Amino acid sequence: MKLLVVCLGNICRSPMAEGALRARLGASPLAGQVEVDSAGTGGWHAGESPDRRAIACARDHGVDIGKQRARQLSARDFDTFDWLLCADRANLRDVLQIAPATRRDRVVLLLEWAGVQAGGEVPDPYTGGPEDFQRVWRLVDSAAQAVVARLSPE
Ligand code: 4NP
Repeated sequence: MKLLVVCLGNICRSPMAEGALRARLGASPLAGQVEVDSAGTGGWHAGESPDRRAIACARDHGVDIGKQRARQLSARDFDTFDWLLCADRANLRDVLQIAPATRRDRVVLLLEWAGVQAGGEVPDPYTGGPEDFQRVWRLVDSAAQAVVARLSPE
């Protein structure tokens, strides 16, 4: 199983979700069975490390995301990944706009697909403060725990 988390810039929300998913999946019986990556619908930050506030927030929760590098979503990702997990509705709309017709049902909201909240969005913390990054961490870590439950055999 291959999961791709998608946000706008790939320097805040999706790198944090990637880190939370790696950590929760790696500590579960699913370790080694699920690949996780992240990408942005925009390419402005391609090649960059995550936002330093995202790195600090993840580190506060024991997860190192400092080696991840931003990249833009590409057409190939629709072949490579089983699920494209979008942070918010704008991301969902943008990804659906370029998704091949046969892959549209694999483009979903992260929080909804995980079972955390129908229609739920991870709010963009880019122009916010540390508390906004903490809120993002709580949401993506809840999603990561719910993903482990969703993918675990009964
Ligand atoms: P992200 O946050 O989508 O969670 O990575 C953002 C990062 C950068 C920008 C917007 C959102 N930006 O406009 O540069």
